[in-house]
Amino acid sequence: MKTIDSPIEAVQTVEGWLNNTEGKVLFQLARNCKGRGVIVEIGSWKGRSTILLGHGSKAGSGAKIHAVDPHTGSPQHREAMGEVWTFNEFQRNIKAAGMDDVVVPHVEFSEAAARTFSEPIELIFIDGLHEYEDVKIDFEAWFPKVIEGGTMVFHDSTCWDGVRKVVSDGLFKSKHFRKVRFASSLTYGQKVAHNTWLERVENRVMLCAFLAHALIARLLWRLVHDYLDFPIARALIRRLKGKRVPQVQPSIGV
Ligand SMILES: C[S@@+](CC[C@H](N)C(=O)[O-])C[C@H]1O[C@@H](n2cnc3c(N)ncnc32)[C@H](O)[C@@H]1O
Repeated sequence: MKTIDSPIEAVQTVEGWLNNTEGKVLFQLARNCKGRGVIVEIGSWKGRSTILLGHGSKAGSGAKIHAVDPHTGSPQHREAMGEVWTFNEFQRNIKAAGMDDVVVPHVEFSEAAARTFSEPIELIFIDGLHEYEDVKIDFEAWFPKVIEGGTMVFHDSTCWDGVRKVVSDGLFKSKHFRKVRFASSLTYGQKVAHNTWLERVENRVMLCAFLAHALIARLLWRLVHDYLDFPIARALIRRLKGKRVPQVQPSIGV
C-alpha cells in the first residue's frame, strides 16, 4: 500500500506553492472520496496540486480530476514574469506522474467552466484568483454543484484577505457546512443541507482558532520577508525548512 510520503515525494520537482502539510491534506481528502461525484480543481499552474489529488483519487475511488485553468497565470504572475503559458509543462508533469488517465484538463476560466459543467462534485479545490470578488464568484458558481457530504477546499485562506473573508462567511459562519477545518493555509468543510446548532457552535469555535492561526501566519510571514530578508537569515530558514520544496516565487503567494 502507498504510504502518505510517496505522493508528496513525487511532486517535489513540480513547481507550485502547495506545501507538504497542505499536500497531505489534499491527498487524504481525495482518497476519502467515495466516487459519488468527480473532483474539480480551480487553478492548476504546473500540476503540483493536481498530481496530489490524482494520487489520492487513485488510492481511493479513482474519481476523475477536472483541472480548470486558462494557463495564462494570475495578474500577480504576469506582473512578475511577463507572458505566462503553463499548459505544456502542466501536461508534461501530469504524464510523467502517470496521472493522464484520471486528469481531465479544462483550459478555460473558472466562471466559464462552471457555466457548462454538469457533473456532481464530491471534492473541489479552489486556488485560482485570490481577490475577494473573484473567490466569491468561484464559491457561488461551484457551491451548487457540490453534492451533500462533498467537500470544498480553499488554498491561501490565511494570507489573502479575500480568501479569508470568503471562507469565514461561506464556510465557518454558514448553515451549509459542518466540520470546517484548516491546515497551514488550507480551509475546508463538508457541505450539508442544514448543519445542527452544535455543528454551528463548533464552526464558530474553529473560526476563532482559524483567525488566530491566520494572524500568526501573517505575522511570521512579515517577520521573515520584511525583517529577516538577508542572505544569512535566508540560508538559516532554508536549513530549518529541511527538505521542503523550492517553491517558485513564494513572495507572490498565489
Ligand atoms: C496559485 S496558482 C495555482 C497553483 C496550484 N494549485 C498548485 O498548487 O501548484 C493559480 C492558478 O490560477 C490560474 N487562474 C487564474 N485565473 C483563473 C480563473 N479565472 N479560473 C481558473 N484559474 C485561474 C492561474 O493561471 C494559475 O495557474
